[in-house]
Amino acid sequence: MMFRLAQISDPHLGPLPKVAWTDLASKRAFGWYNWRRNRARAFAPAVLNALTEDMLAGRPDHVAVTGDLVNLGLSEEFDNARAWLENLGAPEDVTVIPGNHDAYVHGAIEEFTEAWHPYMLGDEAREVHFPFIRRRRNVAIVALSSAVPTAPLMATGEIGGGQAAALASRLAALGRAALFRVVLIHHAPVAKSSHWHKRLVDGDLFRQAIAEAGAELILHGHNHKTSIAHLPGPKGPVPVVGVAAASKLPHDGKPGGSYLSFDIEEAGAGFTIRMTERGVLTPGGAVETLSEQSLTE
Ligand SMILES: [Fe+2]
Ligand SMILES: [Fe+2]
Repeated sequence: MMFRLAQISDPHLGPLPKVAWTDLASKRAFGWYNWRRNRARAFAPAVLNALTEDMLAGRPDHVAVTGDLVNLGLSEEFDNARAWLENLGAPEDVTVIPGNHDAYVHGAIEEFTEAWHPYMLGDEAREVHFPFIRRRRNVAIVALSSAVPTAPLMATGEIGGGQAAALASRLAALGRAALFRVVLIHHAPVAKSSHWHKRLVDGDLFRQAIAEAGAELILHGHNHKTSIAHLPGPKGPVPVVGVAAASKLPHDGKPGGSYLSFDIEEAGAGFTIRMTERGVLTPGGAVETLSEQSLTE
């Protein structure tokens, strides 16, 4: 029986609530200025709404949201994002991990943990703890947080030694149970796949865990463009897929936002994965299929 997993990422939900300059100390002042200058023009709720509607019409069995739900880590943004999540589905059908923008300033982690916690709970867990695991039929979702507060103008991520060790041991156990293991991480885990100031600082720890224990699929956001790469696993290369930012407006001939869906099916001793990207190519255009391919040739 086929399992359809949809991935949507980096909605950077706007518009920003009206903020007082007193709330904009330090890093937020940079972010607010940047947002006004660039993001407010480049991101459109209309694109995000069209993608969301199209994605839900495909009746996915589960939805993965791979971070950067908000921009500056303000309380109103987190509440706004919670409402958006509720529109995507019930917490048992939607898994969320945070991105660097969600952890924009100190204190933000506590706030999003509170606002989004049912969407970030492992099976039978009562508290949010990364990595967490959700099993749905023959699919095991392993959700990491690479979201840490950073210095102004930096957008790096880190998982830390604790998460890396847990990742390796949980993946090994889930692999022995012959489950389809999908790992969610906001930052791109392939070496040098992001600009230096946006990189996963301890990506070597992540890659080591995958090399040892393996996984069937790794999904990330952060780079705001769709990409397919591979990391070495114990039984061969593991596909690593990034997706475009969901609310991006198409402009200057460049495509806008998109989402991905993965149709996962058991085949012999393993699985097949068919990936479809649907997005918006032209301003005001409808959502259409941009590409369709097998990840397991
Ligand atoms: Fe982002
Ligand atoms: Fe990001």
